[in-house]
Amino acid sequence: MDARFLPLFLLLSFALSSENITALYLSWYKDPTTTMTIQWHSDCDEDVIHYQRPDGQKVTSIGSHQSLSEENILIHATTLEGLEPNTVYSFQINDETTSYTFRTAPANLNTPLRFIIGGDLYLSPKLFRKMGQNLAKLDPLFAVLGGDLAYAIGRPLNLMSSPAHQWFKFLADWQETCVAKDGRLIPFLVVPGNHDIAPDDYELFFNLFAFPKKELYRAVDFGTYLSLLLLDTGHFHPIEGRQTIWLDKALEDRFQTPYLLAVYHIAAYPSYYAYDNTASKNIRDNWCPLFDEFKVQAAFEHHNHTFKKTYPLKAGSKNPAGRTLYFGDGCWGSSPRKTFPQWYLDKRARKNNAYLVELGIKSATITAIGISGEVLDTSSLNPK
Ligand SMILES: [Fe+2]
Repeated sequence: MDARFLPLFLLLSFALSSENITALYLSWYKDPTTTMTIQWHSDCDEDVIHYQRPDGQKVTSIGSHQSLSEENILIHATTLEGLEPNTVYSFQINDETTSYTFRTAPANLNTPLRFIIGGDLYLSPKLFRKMGQNLAKLDPLFAVLGGDLAYAIGRPLNLMSSPAHQWFKFLADWQETCVAKDGRLIPFLVVPGNHDIAPDDYELFFNLFAFPKKELYRAVDFGTYLSLLLLDTGHFHPIEGRQTIWLDKALEDRFQTPYLLAVYHIAAYPSYYAYDNTASKNIRDNWCPLFDEFKVQAAFEHHNHTFKKTYPLKAGSKNPAGRTLYFGDGCWGSSPRKTFPQWYLDKRARKNNAYLVELGIKSATITAIGISGEVLDTSSLNPK
């Protein structure tokens, strides 16, 4: 056999012959205070999760699976419901003896909420792992991944890495690298980017992630204290039209929520790409007026592979009375690019970064973390 194909052969042999779990990852598609969606890959058609309630009662939850036929892999998903908030659970898959743990989100901010936001992760696996290890040391409950996770589509791939295998490599690296101090798995919420999904290339993405329907824009509500608006900057759904109409209503419905944070891939206020590129202009025309109207405290933007923070902006201009800060700019595991001065940029640098968000009852802190775990910038936000 040609030596170049040996790693691929070994990977395929492992997937085809073993009943072992070849990937395991967690996310939330329902209320993070009382649910958890567990996904794993195997060639075994059982979808059983065993876990224990805080009162000691043992529970079995049965999910479902679908086949990734070209890889001879089954992708399983089981959602646990009726969980206690702010509680560590341990679980096992099928008859495996290995136990894994996760924690549900707190019911309120009497327990501060700490999580990570970052995008453009796996262009350099080496940078991804270094940043991931340093972020995991900060003990986040979960992460929001702002698009361009595995870089599975839309870039030249060598013969060794099909889109599916690029996802498998990313998921394996996530599982190995992004583990909390106490060994908990760190769930991640997916926001789509241009290297994850396209209107004509979407089946694999929806096979891998348990979205209840083929709709990527959504609000994830943590009790009544935080709503994350997770949006799609045109990679599957257009920015304008139905998504914007939905966003208007979603923000109106959540106007009383103390913290409203938006996360999406392409930046309204870019630090590398041109200010007048079509997608950025579309976001500024359609979404930013809604952020102003409903007092969204922060929008997390990506795609530029730089570090940036804007001034408070309102109605498309610098305004100290403005509420929204735009953080970015998508550089977890990609090589940082040079930034360019713009009237809206308060901070900018050619540096890898992701954000640590810490929400409390009286205030929130947003800390930009660099590749070695160093603090690049700190901001405070007030709840409504
Ligand atoms: Fe991108």
